[in-house]
Amino acid sequence: MAHAIRFHQTGGPEVLRWETVDVGAPAAGEVSVRHHAVGLNYIDTYHRSGLYPVPLPSGLGLEGAGVVEAVGEGVTDFVPGDRVAYAGGPLGAYAEVRNLPAHRVVKLPATLSFEQGAAVMLQGLTAQYLLRRTYRVQPGDTILIHAAAGGVGLIACQWAKALGATVIGTVGSDAKAELARAHGCDHPIVYTRENFTERVREITGGAGVPVVYDSIGKDTFMDSLRCLRPLGMMVLFGAASGPVPPFDLNLLNTMGSLYLTRPGIVAYTAKREDLVAMANELFEVVESGKVRIEINQRYALMDAAQAHRDLEARRTTGSTILLP
Ligand SMILES: NC(=O)c1ccc[n+]([C@@H]2O[C@H](COP(=O)([O-])OP(=O)(O)OC[C@H]3O[C@@H](n4cnc5c(N)ncnc54)[C@H](OP(=O)(O)O)[C@@H]3O)[C@@H](O)[C@H]2O)c1
Repeated sequence: MAHAIRFHQTGGPEVLRWETVDVGAPAAGEVSVRHHAVGLNYIDTYHRSGLYPVPLPSGLGLEGAGVVEAVGEGVTDFVPGDRVAYAGGPLGAYAEVRNLPAHRVVKLPATLSFEQGAAVMLQGLTAQYLLRRTYRVQPGDTILIHAAAGGVGLIACQWAKALGATVIGTVGSDAKAELARAHGCDHPIVYTRENFTERVREITGGAGVPVVYDSIGKDTFMDSLRCLRPLGMMVLFGAASGPVPPFDLNLLNTMGSLYLTRPGIVAYTAKREDLVAMANELFEVVESGKVRIEINQRYALMDAAQAHRDLEARRTTGSTILLP
């Protein structure tokens, strides 16, 4: 028997319950992982609230790091004792121990701690595909990243800077602006006070940016489009302020033949070879020191509800982990 956070109805953080679960032996193709750390991600709040519907009752969480305790039939890539980490896969990372498909798991390099592994996998793989595949950032690009002091934000700012970009980032406070600046954000904009479209136009001499990475959604979407130069790419990858309402596609034409995409980590990591290549690239930028993993909040796993409250109230910066 083990403990896990589960929920039986959608709602606020109070729906999260600390329960005893029977994990059982891993099925064919699965590994059993004892978590040393679990990653907190904004998407966990969408599952909990019902914005992204899931069958109930359900476990929660998509990211963890720990040690393989057992492997199911047919698993050849892992043996008990391996240090591993993962992002994605079935919900259920908020648990002391769990089973999950072996093809979702990668070996954690010896240079990374379990805490770092749990903090960086989902947000770091997201930064990887956003900057390297969705819109491939080039040296000399000036780009806009929203929520620059958040989990994805701090990683993406550092990585984009290392790729040779000039980074404009939005943040909710002056303290967050300083943090973003210390992590590669050349021009932090406090968007709760400043008009970020005007500031982006000023910074780019009126030209606009080739790409906006927008994870805020409803509150920023239209203004983000206004920051783009002709043929620019709008990358909407989250909805921290709520989902974007239905949208007249003709606006993409009148605003400058813009591109719009709504990517998610699932499709980008669906093939095992892509997941492994992306993880290797991520581990490389961490090991080289180009991207520092900032774990700015730690909670006991059983206190996951408080972690959700703080995340949704914009009280966190960088990455957050839950400790079993
Ligand atoms: N599509 C994908 O593959 C994918 C993968 C990972 C993450 N994401 C998305 O990326 C975003 C960042 O994820 P994360 O885990 O790194 O979280 P995070 O950025 O650490 O936290 C969310 C941040 O959004 C900002 N925000 C702006 N308006 C907000 C509002 N009304 N309510 C709450 N927060 C608001 C806050 O920063 P300020 O105070 O500075 O504004 C807050 O700290 C989320 O939208 C998430 O869904 C998408």
